[in-house]
Amino acid sequence: MPPVARRPLFALATGALAAPWIAGGARAQGNYPTRTVTVIVPFAAGGPTDTVTRLVAEAMGRDLGQTVVVENVGGAGGTLGAARVAQARPDGHTLLLHHIGMATAPTLYRRLPYDPVNGFETIGLVTEVPMTLVAKKDFPANTLAEAVEVIKREGDRLNYANAGIGAASHLCGLLLMKAVGTAMTTVPFRGTGPAVQEVLSGRIDLMCDQTTNTTEHINAGSMKVFNVTTAERVQSLPNVPTSKEAGLPEFEVSVWHGLYAPKGTPAEIQQRLSKALQAALRDEKLVARFADLGTAPVAQDRATPDAHRKFWQADIAKWKPIIQAAGQFAD
Ligand code: MLT
Repeated sequence: MPPVARRPLFALATGALAAPWIAGGARAQGNYPTRTVTVIVPFAAGGPTDTVTRLVAEAMGRDLGQTVVVENVGGAGGTLGAARVAQARPDGHTLLLHHIGMATAPTLYRRLPYDPVNGFETIGLVTEVPMTLVAKKDFPANTLAEAVEVIKREGDRLNYANAGIGAASHLCGLLLMKAVGTAMTTVPFRGTGPAVQEVLSGRIDLMCDQTTNTTEHINAGSMKVFNVTTAERVQSLPNVPTSKEAGLPEFEVSVWHGLYAPKGTPAEIQQRLSKALQAALRDEKLVARFADLGTAPVAQDRATPDAHRKFWQADIAKWKPIIQAAGQFAD
């Protein structure tokens, strides 16, 4: 296990350097993509972002007529992978698939090696994934109300896993601990892919994670689940109550994902990528797999650069006062 944090916490170069890249991208766009496209996942392999990205990449590759590969660059709550893409050549061959962390990082992190707001072009939204509060199999509670009692009683003797500050599992944990009024010991991982293994092995007590990473373990009976964090129940987990049904209505969050390119990627390439993303989100195999994992693609008119940018900017504005009021930063 990685080191334990005892407390729960809440450029692209422009000008001269950027110009040749932009010109190169513009020259290439007639027959774009000219080679393999890489999508960076800013979390570990085997986790929820990785799962969504691999499905999207495979289907986009069919539309683009090129292989789309996935590379995992985990760490620092997703900011290492985001930095890699912000600093990549803006020619459409290096992309980022990231989630709600893109809306919290601009306020949570004061010193990033890239511009977290203006360092990217948006391609389109992908999906909004419900979360689940899960626990190791022998956790001494069977309902959310009982879990809350255990958390109040045991406090920081309990280990709560997350994927670093600003990760969805971190935000969800904050909501839970705020609602309960008790802190647990936070154990950060490079992604919830490895973290979920620690819940399965019993070394981690509790974790909040996306249904794309927990559904199969829950349905196999290898971990406990207390609630889904959405207003409605999730089709793939029909017996799991919502937070409201389970008595904690304020414990509600879903994890939106979007596809990004480095700042300066030509508009024609953004549009081509958006078209490929829309095709991927209509792909029957992808839709069926998303449904198995408790989620669904966004509507086609949300998988566009404009809709994505507006949604992202609004979410940055939504999280800013919440993070500032908490008064805790990641750096
Ligand atoms: C992951 O892919 O590991 C997750 O999205 C991490 C998180 O945000 O909780």
